[in-house]
Amino acid sequence: MLTYGRQTISEDDIAAVVAALRSDFLTQGPLVETFERRFAEAVGARYAVAVNSATAALHLALRVAGIGPGDRVVTSPNTFLASANAAAYVGATPDFADIDPVSYTLDPSALEKTWKHDTRAVVAVDYAGQVSDLPEIYRIARARGAIVISDACHGIGGAFHAQGHPGKRWSIGGNPWADITTFSFHPVKTMTTGEGGMLVTDRKDWADDARILRSHGIVRDPAYFTTNDEHDPLAEKGPWFYEMQQLGYNYRLTDMQCALGISQLKRLDQFISRRREIVAAYNHAFTGLPHLTRPGLRDPANVSTTSWHLYTVQIDFASLGKMRTDVMKSLRGLGVGSQVLYVPVYLQPWYRQTFGYAPGKCPVAEQFYARALSLPLYPSMSDADVASVVSAVKKVVS
Ligand SMILES: Cc1ncc(COP(=O)(O)O)c(C=O)c1O
Repeated sequence: MLTYGRQTISEDDIAAVVAALRSDFLTQGPLVETFERRFAEAVGARYAVAVNSATAALHLALRVAGIGPGDRVVTSPNTFLASANAAAYVGATPDFADIDPVSYTLDPSALEKTWKHDTRAVVAVDYAGQVSDLPEIYRIARARGAIVISDACHGIGGAFHAQGHPGKRWSIGGNPWADITTFSFHPVKTMTTGEGGMLVTDRKDWADDARILRSHGIVRDPAYFTTNDEHDPLAEKGPWFYEMQQLGYNYRLTDMQCALGISQLKRLDQFISRRREIVAAYNHAFTGLPHLTRPGLRDPANVSTTSWHLYTVQIDFASLGKMRTDVMKSLRGLGVGSQVLYVPVYLQPWYRQTFGYAPGKCPVAEQFYARALSLPLYPSMSDADVASVVSAVKKVVS
């Protein structure tokens, strides 16, 4: 069965993890820093902080930026729950602006319309790997004193061109239009550590704070200790001593996972180019297929820079005369798995009950959801696998 996404693991990856298992450190060892440094270099960011999921990275991003109760965080409804849940974790109100019908990412004009006086942050999601319109989103946010977090869980290793900067290639995670960028290394993503995530930023104070918060808010550097009274029961500051200065978490990534991440990172470019090849083959094969719309690019210049995570088509199930569930069953019968990504987050029961959101809030995202189907896309798919997906889709969607 070809699933919609899966990891690509090599013998080198396995050897790297085994070496970590044989080393002195299973966690909190030297591989964490090595992975952070190499990842920061790869995406062109100054600082990278490894954590045990992108959910943790999003949570820490909002924490270090000081977003909390009384603040509103606007994100795309077309995302995994975590992009919005992170706002709720810090006590802020998650809100949603509609997507644009070409890239299925946050529509800047909808963002502007949805803006409220208490909006303090925007979480822009690079759906399927296509970058959000970050320059425009940043312009809107900055003019109103808000920050931009780029949720690039789908966009690892991707880049983009921006209007007004001819010939310049900006990387996702290394551009001036996101204050913090977050990545996921879940197995379906472009590279994996099993579970895992990364927060990158050019701000040293935020990176330092995220590193402290990922490990219980613990400070070990005596230069920053605050209990300095000689009569205080904590006056003896021996080698065991540390201070907890904020309420943090255990969001640490293990050395075993970092070993896998370091090894995977070496093949990131390879992974991306194979993904691009498969997307090009699908796009070619599905040209003119009735009832089916292929994924589009907001800016065609990004055809050679986009790091595709998903291949999501839009199928007009009403005109096809078949239910999506039945289409998925028929594809499955032909050995082709598929998935629906995503249910607009605000339609989840908890969001309706907690914030009063209701159907109709983001009509483009709702229409997108009604027609969305993601087909298999991962680097280890052979040309024969791609051909079998194409023939199954042509058979079922006709
Ligand atoms: C867009 C997006 N944001 C956040 C997440 C959360 O990532 P993680 O599973 O690493 O916590 C995911 C993962 O599915 C995602 O796709």
